[in-house]
Amino acid sequence: MQSILWLVLMTVKIYDGHGRSSPSNILKPMIRAHLNFTELVEFDGYKSEAHQVQTQDGYILTVFRVLANRYCDNIKEKHTILFQHGLYLSGDDCIIPGPGVAHCYIYSDNCHDVWVGNSRGNRYSRRHITKNPDKDESFWDFTFIEMGKYDLPAVIDYITKVTKKEQLVYVGHSEGVTALLVLMAKDPRYNSKIKVGFGMSPAAWMNHARLPMVTLQKIIAPYIDLPNKEILEHGGIVQTLAESICGRRRNYFLCSKLLFSILGNNRYQITKEVYPVIVGHSSAGVSLKNFVYWGQIAENGFREYDYGKEKNLKIYGRETPPEFNLNKVTMDLVLLCSENDWVGDLKDVEVLRSHVAGIKVCVVEDKTFGHLDFVYGKDIPKLITPKIFAYLKSKILNC
Ligand SMILES: *[C@@H]1O[C@H](CO)[C@@H](O)[C@H](O)[C@H]1NC(C)=O
Repeated sequence: MQSILWLVLMTVKIYDGHGRSSPSNILKPMIRAHLNFTELVEFDGYKSEAHQVQTQDGYILTVFRVLANRYCDNIKEKHTILFQHGLYLSGDDCIIPGPGVAHCYIYSDNCHDVWVGNSRGNRYSRRHITKNPDKDESFWDFTFIEMGKYDLPAVIDYITKVTKKEQLVYVGHSEGVTALLVLMAKDPRYNSKIKVGFGMSPAAWMNHARLPMVTLQKIIAPYIDLPNKEILEHGGIVQTLAESICGRRRNYFLCSKLLFSILGNNRYQITKEVYPVIVGHSSAGVSLKNFVYWGQIAENGFREYDYGKEKNLKIYGRETPPEFNLNKVTMDLVLLCSENDWVGDLKDVEVLRSHVAGIKVCVVEDKTFGHLDFVYGKDIPKLITPKIFAYLKSKILNC
């Protein structure tokens, strides 16, 4: 058995072509790429739990918990942190870049209790008390509005109940920020449950978004009568194809160009070891309706879903969808943004700032930092988490 393993390791080493890489450097990303959240956390040497949370409208969500480092028993300043991922993605984003870099592991190392949300429809939250995601179209009749209106309050209530803490710290990425804004606009009581909200690469107004994906969304946005379907599912065509090309180490150069020109351009932050793990886990599945909705928003601004004049009149009592009531967002909210963000463009962040009183904006020093770098970038422990910890400790924003 051992000799077979040795043979495999040596073969991999020879095939890699140059002596510098050790076998474990090559094998580790290949293994990490195919483990689910629970397995990956264990592989990386941490401890996790999986919890099931039911929303008011019957969806069953998986919420992960990464336990604080075991040496933390006597530390007083522990926060309960909820990490919420962005569009097409999942809670895996909290662990993908691995120990020392990934948000969940850094929080755990610093003795915090980390919870990880999974929006309805992603690979870990494809369940409902009556609807079958593989058979019932109505399962996929949702957008980030339902994520804010139903998913988040269910998850926040659950965590505060289990931990017996009244407040938690929220760290959202991209659509994870959007859903938080929607929740507060629709049910302002939840403002008091969030000690601080950190919004990385926030998505709300999208007029200046440069992502090619957004262009595609804009093109299909007028087709409001599309069927309710699942798209970009984990193990589906797009993810499998992306992985079969980009899961290979020798395609790093090609993929860093191809993939990141679709998802946001940065060749500096996402390392060779991390990108196969990204394509092994993303995309994680979402509804077509949500995809279309982002196209509407890029076209018309941050407002409710546009069903067309007639149906809008019935639902909203007006021909165009209304804006969200953002003056109801009163919690302490810190946005972490970047100049090279192809989704959360700084001009659009300014529009968001003008709608939410007291919002704080922090622009990261690295001008090349991109949309995905907030969750996968090698400089997260240098540029992002220290800002979060400093603010939690003394409300000082180092930027
Ligand atoms: C991860 O995979 C293992 C093995 O297939 C399975 O038992 C477990 O339920 C999975 N966990 C999640 C959260 O999907």
